[in-house]
Amino acid sequence: MSIIADDNDFKREKTERNPVIKAEKIEFDKNFENCIRPKSFDTYIGQSALKETLKISIEAAKKRELPLDHLLFYGPPGLGKTTLAGVIAEQMGVEIKITSAPALERPRDIIGILMSLKGGEILFIDEIHRLNKVAEEILYPAMEDFILDMTTGKSQTVKTMRIPLPKFTLIGATTKAGELSGPLRDRFGIIHRLEFYTEEELSQVIKRTAGILNIDIDDKGAHAIARRSRGTPRIANRLVKRVSDFALVKHDGKITEDVANQSLDILKIDEFGLDTTDRTLLKLIIEKYDGGPVGIETIAAAIGEDVRTIEDVCEPFLLQAGLLQRTPRGRKVSPETYRHLGYKNIQITEQKGLFEKH
Ligand code: ADE
Repeated sequence: MSIIADDNDFKREKTERNPVIKAEKIEFDKNFENCIRPKSFDTYIGQSALKETLKISIEAAKKRELPLDHLLFYGPPGLGKTTLAGVIAEQMGVEIKITSAPALERPRDIIGILMSLKGGEILFIDEIHRLNKVAEEILYPAMEDFILDMTTGKSQTVKTMRIPLPKFTLIGATTKAGELSGPLRDRFGIIHRLEFYTEEELSQVIKRTAGILNIDIDDKGAHAIARRSRGTPRIANRLVKRVSDFALVKHDGKITEDVANQSLDILKIDEFGLDTTDRTLLKLIIEKYDGGPVGIETIAAAIGEDVRTIEDVCEPFLLQAGLLQRTPRGRKVSPETYRHLGYKNIQITEQKGLFEKH
């Protein structure tokens, strides 16, 4: 049957260009982010309310001897969505296959992965809001009834086959829940938002990472880094590594408050955690567009960043910190932005030129 030819196609495809990263591979990966990833709820810091509800869902699924409901995690990047999916797999005692929507370009990419799943396994799809329509439609019956609807052949000889799949759990992650189609969102039984971390939680993340990497750090040093990590463990972990380089080369190796602050000043990470790109973006709105509103495309072109990076990486924290606002006419800054960037705030009005720099 023609289905066999298609199936071989998938097999060939999988060896040529496999969009799945196996969890065991990640386990032994020397990649920095992966080797410091917590593997259990006990070592996963923060998101405490979410952890508690997940533990209950996991226990219930185990008692029923059924896979966990499909889960959707949303929130800014770097808050631990992939890590949490790995922890869930560990707690359920199942394997996790990790991929991302941009890797599922052709129907056979998603079909190949679905057909490779075994009972109870977890499929993690990152950036799920970027899934194309065809892949989405393949996922609907797979998520709902564990069925793969496949069409084979061309025009007059087209055949439809319904292939049963083992029961699996899909974990989707997105930074843009609003861009997910309604039908896809509705197929997730559990939907959770990940929150920015507190300074205390980030400080614990930093000390845990320092411990794994054999970095000497005291409490105040950890807090100094946490304060400038934008509520994001991925940034905290990156900074602890950078600061440790400075501590080793310029000091005696130990990260103290002074060493952390000096290093972060040199790295041009300010006391809010803003980096050069953030400050350039905000200054542009203030100096060239009178504080805004100004369109995101205009901002992106002026500072030489792409729109997606601004929207996904820079903006979530700037919005939450109250340094940037989204309006129907574009982005604008707040009085706090002027103060934070050191503009002497003579009078903040819509008018041009009523502020000056210290
Ligand atoms: N590293 C990155 N995210 C973490 C978290 N939530 N807990 C502990 N270590 C982490």
